[in-house]
Amino acid sequence: MNGKHSVTVTDNRTGRQIDLPVKDATEGPAAVDIGGFFKQLGYFTYDPGFVSTASCHSSLTYLDGEQGMLMYRGYPIEQLAEKSSFIEVAYLMLYGELPNTAQLDEFSGIITHHTMLNEALKSFFRGFYHDAHPMAIMVGVVGSLSAFYHDSSDITNPRHRIIAAHRMIAKMPSIAAASYKHSVGEPQVYPDNSLSYTGNLLNMMFAVPCEAYRIDPVAEKALDLIFILHIDHEQNASTSTVRLAGSSGANPFACIASGIAALWGPAHGGANEAVLSMLEEIGDAKEIPKYLARAKDKDDPFRLMGFGHRVYKNYDPRARIIRKMCHEVLAKLGDENDPMFELALRLEEIALSDDYFIERKLYPNVDFYSGLIYKALGIPANMFTVMFAIARTVGWVAQWMEMISEKNQRIGRPRQLYVGPTRRDYMPIEERR
Ligand code: SDX
Repeated sequence: MNGKHSVTVTDNRTGRQIDLPVKDATEGPAAVDIGGFFKQLGYFTYDPGFVSTASCHSSLTYLDGEQGMLMYRGYPIEQLAEKSSFIEVAYLMLYGELPNTAQLDEFSGIITHHTMLNEALKSFFRGFYHDAHPMAIMVGVVGSLSAFYHDSSDITNPRHRIIAAHRMIAKMPSIAAASYKHSVGEPQVYPDNSLSYTGNLLNMMFAVPCEAYRIDPVAEKALDLIFILHIDHEQNASTSTVRLAGSSGANPFACIASGIAALWGPAHGGANEAVLSMLEEIGDAKEIPKYLARAKDKDDPFRLMGFGHRVYKNYDPRARIIRKMCHEVLAKLGDENDPMFELALRLEEIALSDDYFIERKLYPNVDFYSGLIYKALGIPANMFTVMFAIARTVGWVAQWMEMISEKNQRIGRPRQLYVGPTRRDYMPIEERR
């Protein structure tokens, strides 16, 4: 990884020069190692929003923003979406290679047998008001898991780490479904070990004690595919939050809870719910120009939700797959003429021909279409980001494990450019104006 070449930086005020080593990448840009920058030159580097900053090295996920390319462990997302399954990709992310049949069966069995929640946890949900946002419940309940699993909390023990990872991946659907059941005032449904990962989630969300629930295979498959697309995405805001929390040695459940909290924001994972609200607010294609004007107006906080991305300056490959899926799923579920989908297509068409969006390379991202599929599956809008969190838990735990198992892992502690008051002495109140 340590290439032979370096970058020279000259301070044109003092003439001082330093050579900074360049770390080579296997894909994409190399990185200038600025670890010694402050010590050698006396300056901090400054990059709010981390536009040009690599916070770590990772072998999990690679994005090419210009090409609109996404790979998990080197496999293109298009191939995994078409040929793999969520559980198989989860194995790939945790262990680095695609499993053989025996490995996949064993892993699937491990996850299945961790899906139950401690019975004491059931009362946690009742402590929330009925109209609590499910993401608020997720943050609270996931954070509380560390109170239950003392046998997987020694983060220095690889066995504990992998058990905690299995538990997180397995229990997220159970916690999510229980959050949903609380919001609709229905009894919680236990996991069913005979069902698939997404079939189990649908059953726990929508089954009721008084009648049989039939899992729609179209919905089960669509959810599995959407979950694959959401598993990981390099060092996005929530993943960086998980890594930073983990760098202090916090337990994995607390780290995942911090990731859920960060994901909730409308600029991040909360965008899928915000897209549907936006489409409902726009209501009709003839209103689109008005909303595009608002999106361009710097004085108007309105953003075209589901558009734009820090890395993708091309079509988000996940959005392309979900958009295609929308047609298929809506047709199979009988919603092919969903006015919201028609409006989304029209909005995309108009925005992508508008100079403002073209110049800024603003394309639909993963959140633009995902909500339409969730809606067609009968999932309420306030559960959309919860769906995102379930899938992203695989990425979060994989990134956390990669970070915590680093040989020279250190606490993350950025510096700042201080622009506050210079030193001054305390003034007695009687002397103040
Ligand atoms: C996710 O990081 C990840 O990988 C995230 C994610 C993942 O899988 O983890 O991909 C998931 O979070 C997808 C993004 C979901 N969020 C949204 O859809 C919310 C709407 N999008 C914007 O808020 C914005 O595009 C961000 C937050 C996604 C990206 O913000 P950046 O990189 O800081 O870009 P920016 O705000 O600096 O925008 C650059 C320009 C600005 O205009 P100028 O100042 O140059 O004139 O583009 C404009 C912005 O005003 N712009 C938009 C816009 N997004 C950017 N204008 C209108 N509508 C938008 N959606």
